[in-house]
Amino acid sequence: MNAPAEIVKVIASQPHATLGYKRFTLGSFTFRRDEYFAHIEWKTRDGRALSHTMDAGNYLRALMRDVAWGFFYGWVNFDHMIGTVNLFTTVDFFAGSYNQTMKAAGVDRLENFPTEEIGATFAAMLDDWTNETFDPFSAPQETGTPYGRKNGNNTAKITRARELASRCVGLKGDLNLRTDERGAPINRAFADVPQNEPELHPEPGFENEVHAFNLFAFLSRSQVTWNPSFTSVVKYSFMCPTTEEHILPIVHGNDRVEWFFQMTDEIHWDCAHKETGKPLARVIMKAGDMAAMPAYCRHQGYSPKRSMLLVWENGSPTLVHEIQQGEAPEVPVAF
Ligand code: PHB
Ligand code: FE
Repeated sequence: MNAPAEIVKVIASQPHATLGYKRFTLGSFTFRRDEYFAHIEWKTRDGRALSHTMDAGNYLRALMRDVAWGFFYGWVNFDHMIGTVNLFTTVDFFAGSYNQTMKAAGVDRLENFPTEEIGATFAAMLDDWTNETFDPFSAPQETGTPYGRKNGNNTAKITRARELASRCVGLKGDLNLRTDERGAPINRAFADVPQNEPELHPEPGFENEVHAFNLFAFLSRSQVTWNPSFTSVVKYSFMCPTTEEHILPIVHGNDRVEWFFQMTDEIHWDCAHKETGKPLARVIMKAGDMAAMPAYCRHQGYSPKRSMLLVWENGSPTLVHEIQQGEAPEVPVAF
């Protein structure tokens, strides 16, 4: 998404005369928004015109994650109909392709795009369609309305840098701890979280090797929801904690096993088969619970109160291939 604008062409209309929003084209898909909805239109494989409608707030919350995460791992389903698949240099955009009913009816469509092209188109759409009243990363109680005619932009909030430690939060030269001064006050839901930092007594010469920090305090100061940051990285082991409130705006389809550790409060997960959407499980996670999401599932979480969740990712670039070859398992453990 950092490719120069002159190389990556974003196809957008002039702003709509009344509503003020642009219409975007990506391959044979078109995207437009009105006061309440995002509309996606395409031609089915047998040439019929089809369309899909999403609430504008839900659409922008999903689009925000897809853009900020560079299309994440595997599938980012915006809902039961549309979404993206990250193939790492290219990205599929699909409508109905992972919905058993739509696929069986032959009304689905999937097209593949260079990552830069879909990334630039999505980033431009997110910027044009997000009004100054709405922050798609905020909990619904902490932001204004996404609805109405075009009313300014919220570019600063939709281009937040992703917080990625290269070794560990708080190490010299690495991602900073969060403080009031750095614009990260304690969230209303975490007013009771102790803020004291651990004592460190490394031997001289090891100050940059021995390290610890208060992860609860760090998370209590998260300004956003459903946005895993990297707090520690050891080879391909990525600790990705995040604070959650309301609904995970995407339905994530795994391309690998992924672990969840519920650090506080609770999250209810709906799990389904990633290819068909067939429901598989409800997982009610309470503080202290751990779960692993197998590589064949999709999942969406509901957090009734702001909660802390540790997502543990295996970032190995060869893992998807190994799973496809049967060299790595789709499940974390076989009994
Ligand atoms: C996930 O899809 O596993 C996921 C994504 C974002 C979160 C939590 C979990 O904040
Ligand atoms: Fe996931």
